Amino acid sequence: MIKKCIFPVAGYGTRFLPATKSMPKEMLPVVNKPLVQYGVEEALDAGLDEICLVTGRGKRAINDFFDISYELEHQIAGTEKEQYLSSIRDIISRAKFATTRQSEMRGLGHAILTGELLVGSEPFGVILADDLCVCDEQGVMSQLVDIYNRERCAVIAIQEVDEANISKFGVIAGKEVEPGLFVVNDMVEKPAPEDAPSNLAIIGRYVLTPYIFEILRHTPPGKNGEVQLTDALLTMARTSKVLAYKFKGRRFDCGSVDGYVEATNYVYEHIYCAGRDA
Ligand code: UTP
Repeated sequence: MIKKCIFPVAGYGTRFLPATKSMPKEMLPVVNKPLVQYGVEEALDAGLDEICLVTGRGKRAINDFFDISYELEHQIAGTEKEQYLSSIRDIISRAKFATTRQSEMRGLGHAILTGELLVGSEPFGVILADDLCVCDEQGVMSQLVDIYNRERCAVIAIQEVDEANISKFGVIAGKEVEPGLFVVNDMVEKPAPEDAPSNLAIIGRYVLTPYIFEILRHTPPGKNGEVQLTDALLTMARTSKVLAYKFKGRRFDCGSVDGYVEATNYVYEHIYCAGRDA
């Protein structure tokens, strides 16, 4: 059973400067919850209750968020404001947290390799908290875990994107073996539209096997001089098996201002107000 989930949260979040100059991007709120809380809730829903945070300088707020704030608890104890803490109290009681630090931002692949210390030799999930996913029934991580339990190999989430946006993503090519499920045979990180092998883009949800660490150790820096997870996954696809699943749900790119605003509007209308007025 998969129990662990890596959250790489060390990045600088430059697209959100100046907001992210002294606060982590992953703590930006979508309505009333920070991005990283949505991610941890999705991991817990999938049964992954060992949360492995790969943090860096300036990210202390994330660790503090997942800890009890005694002064605050004391201050609002017995008042109606206590209800505002119920969701985070629930997470703190259900999840275990471990942290390691990425001292140099050498890319997502390097951040995952840094998480090896916390994950060891087990299969594990990866959630990029700045990709906010909203699903009607099962969360995306839960959808991937179901496939992993059946197939016992790496599974990554993909979505169709239009040509104008394809160069923002890692893109796969593969053979569709059942509706929405592909065996990956090629992958390119942020291709020019004319070089994209398909319109199927990788989003920030993965189930990986520990073999990925072995590959990452030997993966040289790629696009933008960073160790790219996509490059390591391509090696994995060529030497063992990687599946890509067109997940059911919606994804918002909260690492960009436009996607963040879109997510905020959507969550406010469809989740926050719908829950409040129910
Ligand atoms: P992004 O590329 O979206 O994050 O990485 P970023 O680098 O912080 O953003 P910009 O482009 O400067 O605005 C996706 C996720 O991977 C983490 C980030 O924190 C983010 O959650 N990451 C990225 C790391 O933990 N370490 C890295 O070296 C790079």
